Amino acid sequence: MNKLKAAIIGCGAIYRNHADALVDSQFAELKLVVDINEERAKQAAQDYNCIYSTDFYKVLEDKTIDVIHLCTPHYLHGVMAKAAMKSGKHVFTEKPMSISTKEAKEMIKDSKEYNRHLAVCFQNRYNNTSVKAKEILEGGSLGSIKGVKGFVTWYRDENYYTESGWRGSFSTEGGGVLINQSIHTIDLIQWLAGGITRVKANVDTRKLDKVIEVEDTADATFVFNNGSHGIYYATNCYSTNSPVEIEIHCEKGMIQLKDEQLYVTIDGKTELVASDKIGNNKYKSYWGLSHSIHINNFYRGVIEDNSEYYVTGEEGIKTLEIIEAIYRSSAGHRWINL
Ligand SMILES: NC(=O)c1ccc[n+]([C@@H]2O[C@H](COP(=O)([O-])OP(=O)(O)OC[C@H]3O[C@@H](n4cnc5c(N)ncnc54)[C@H](O)[C@@H]3O)[C@@H](O)[C@H]2O)c1
Repeated sequence: MNKLKAAIIGCGAIYRNHADALVDSQFAELKLVVDINEERAKQAAQDYNCIYSTDFYKVLEDKTIDVIHLCTPHYLHGVMAKAAMKSGKHVFTEKPMSISTKEAKEMIKDSKEYNRHLAVCFQNRYNNTSVKAKEILEGGSLGSIKGVKGFVTWYRDENYYTESGWRGSFSTEGGGVLINQSIHTIDLIQWLAGGITRVKANVDTRKLDKVIEVEDTADATFVFNNGSHGIYYATNCYSTNSPVEIEIHCEKGMIQLKDEQLYVTIDGKTELVASDKIGNNKYKSYWGLSHSIHINNFYRGVIEDNSEYYVTGEEGIKTLEIIEAIYRSSAGHRWINL
């Protein structure tokens, strides 16, 4: 089988998760890496035995490239995805798909107009624990959902923001702890519990208010499609990156996702039913291990022209809509309907 040829744009902290997934994929081959920082691009090309460029738009002229991976700062995802699809490339973008729902909608429209596949990197949906949690909830053994809890308590210091050219400002990052760190947890909550219809929330910059304009802390109350409520808290102001906690309280029991393990409690008995802990994780543990699965699924989806294999733009925008509702709710001190 002829493998699809990929280019990765942006060779910063996350690109290796994409490059390693491509090296391991039976469907894809990494042909090119791009970074405006030539040293980074050169090093990445050397590490992955491919060619490099510093010019994204020039790469779009290369007819042999089938897929563009966007590992660039948030504000570039929308504009780069649209240009790539217009040039005939399929796009696998890192989260968030854009910094605005308006642009995200245009991306979805472009993917239809140019008949290109568009995926958003919510890789944690493919974690063992997430897949099992979804299966249990949909299986119905726990009854309907009564409440949901999501906690993200992480640590980002001043240097994390000042050493980056794009983090910490609305125009380039699009937000703070919501759109960058805890976006995966909002996505998992809304996906597992079947969609959010209403939001009341607060956002604030508590610790780094002299350094960043975006929020470092947010809390929200959600109403889900089935009428149940959810509570959510996210902060970058803790002293370490604690494991994310998600709890789903159901009529007949409870699901708890914590410390990369999934526990189910039913009739007072708690059992470990799935785990994402493996001995040899070379990436940051809180990024999860599922980039490879999601990326390989995406290529299969492109080859079979079936978007059910991956997280589509239509799925990716849901979390962005919730985040925008959180900002609007906080600004207006009121409930927002989605
Ligand atoms: N899915 C996850 O779990 C996860 C984890 C970390 C980061 N991310 C996402 O990955 C993306 C990148 O994050 P990062 O931490 O790697 O950022 P980074 O700042 O470390 O890397 C970004 C790279 O993009 C390059 N770049 C900037 N403008 C460019 C342009 N016009 N053309 C080509 N290259 C350009 C920069 O030089 C830099 O090397 C973000 O969207 C981030 O939210 C996702």
